[in-house]
Amino acid sequence: GKAQIGVIGMAVMGKNLALNIERQGYRVAVYDWNSTYTKQVMKDHGDKNFVASYEMKDFVESIEKPRRILMMVKAGAPTDSTIQNVLPYLDKGDVLIDGGNTFFKDTMRRNKELENSGINFIGMGTSGGQKGALNGPSLMPGGQKEAYDLVAPILKQIAAKAPEDGEPCVAYIGPNGAGHYVKMVHNGIEYGDMELIAESYDLMKRVLHMSNAEIAATFNEWRHTELNSYLIDITAEILTRKDDLGTGKDIIDVILDRAGNKGTGKWSSQSALDLGMPQTLITEAVYARYISAMKKERVQANKVLPHPENQVPEVDKQETIEKIRKALYFSKIMSYAQGFEQIKVASDNYQWNIHLGELAKIWRAGCIIRAQFLQKITDAYDRDPELDNLLLDDYFKEIVTKYQSDVRDVVALAVRAGIPCPCFTSAVTYYDQYRSIDLPANMIQAQRDYFGAHTFERTDREGNFHYEWYPEE
Ligand code: 6PG
Repeated sequence: GKAQIGVIGMAVMGKNLALNIERQGYRVAVYDWNSTYTKQVMKDHGDKNFVASYEMKDFVESIEKPRRILMMVKAGAPTDSTIQNVLPYLDKGDVLIDGGNTFFKDTMRRNKELENSGINFIGMGTSGGQKGALNGPSLMPGGQKEAYDLVAPILKQIAAKAPEDGEPCVAYIGPNGAGHYVKMVHNGIEYGDMELIAESYDLMKRVLHMSNAEIAATFNEWRHTELNSYLIDITAEILTRKDDLGTGKDIIDVILDRAGNKGTGKWSSQSALDLGMPQTLITEAVYARYISAMKKERVQANKVLPHPENQVPEVDKQETIEKIRKALYFSKIMSYAQGFEQIKVASDNYQWNIHLGELAKIWRAGCIIRAQFLQKITDAYDRDPELDNLLLDDYFKEIVTKYQSDVRDVVALAVRAGIPCPCFTSAVTYYDQYRSIDLPANMIQAQRDYFGAHTFERTDREGNFHYEWYPEE
């Protein structure tokens, strides 16, 4: 019989999603423009309920109507060419899903173009890596709601289930680019979380002079605190692994400190700039990767730019470790507060009507940023679905009030010791900006008016004013 769904792209993500769908009892059509991939999948999984095709036309015809087709191909030009190749064989009402890490504006464009041909197009954020794809990812679909309803049963079955209530980690996010937008911010948050953990590691290593084993043990303990999360888990594990090339060293000590990126974190910051929203912590995390990549220049600079001479004060090790833990949680809260507020503003701007509480729910499992903490965000939006900023919620307000002095100690220690902690620093700065009645922007306005007659508003009356800064000229 015909397949109930098709998957285009038999690299690891597409293959694993196809296996996951098949496991739920579906017949799955599989295709890749490169037939070697498809052949390999059929060789390794010949016992599965797969229908393999080696021509796009055959592939499309092997699927029941209205067709549901999931594309797992590289973002950008390969996605456009795949759409062009499949389009001639599709019928009105078919649903095409792009599960890649696509830039949301591309999804908005494709959704519109395809809608003109009567084809439903869903841009779906897919998180959780290879293992997630196979065993339960977090899925963030955006596009026509009717089209979502056609694929929802399958997506709910393959998605991860939240440990708190067993709910599947998938929900309709909103029209056109909404799904890929939230996946982009998810990745920005992922960059922030990773950098915060890296800074914690660096302070334990370079200020407290702890061994990898000791740091691993610390992260292991943190798993049993409010920091419990996938990224803390893997960090603890990474620090226990030996080099596989037999040098006898820990693998972490032979990995070069130049971070890569595929651009999603950068897009998240770019969008924040476009919307006029402060996404400072994530942006610092993007910059931290960029500066790390300038390894040669850093090595040169180190020869001429000395380390601070001031003595780092004697600190109690256990106490400082606990302060770092609190700084990490405090900073994570700032990062999510910024990320969620950005999504709220983007949702208003693009008319997506994104439900932030639902979003927090589907990040509780399956995705890279999954954490116990996401339940706290879900709870906050349950209390107030219109919440402007997470810091205004009672739970978060209480935590940051309790932890703020610790994060200040950690940042001060890092600055004195000459250890860069851009994301910790950014977190405390944002906190102080956000809660300040007065900021020095009165001076900025005066300067703008002085040199460019850009005018300013006054504290005591309505309207725009200009001051005669040089009347005699
Ligand atoms: C996920 C990840 C995934 C991928 C990123 C990494 O949610 O499963 O975010 O999408 O790991 O592409 O991005 P960088 O290569 O930019 O670090």
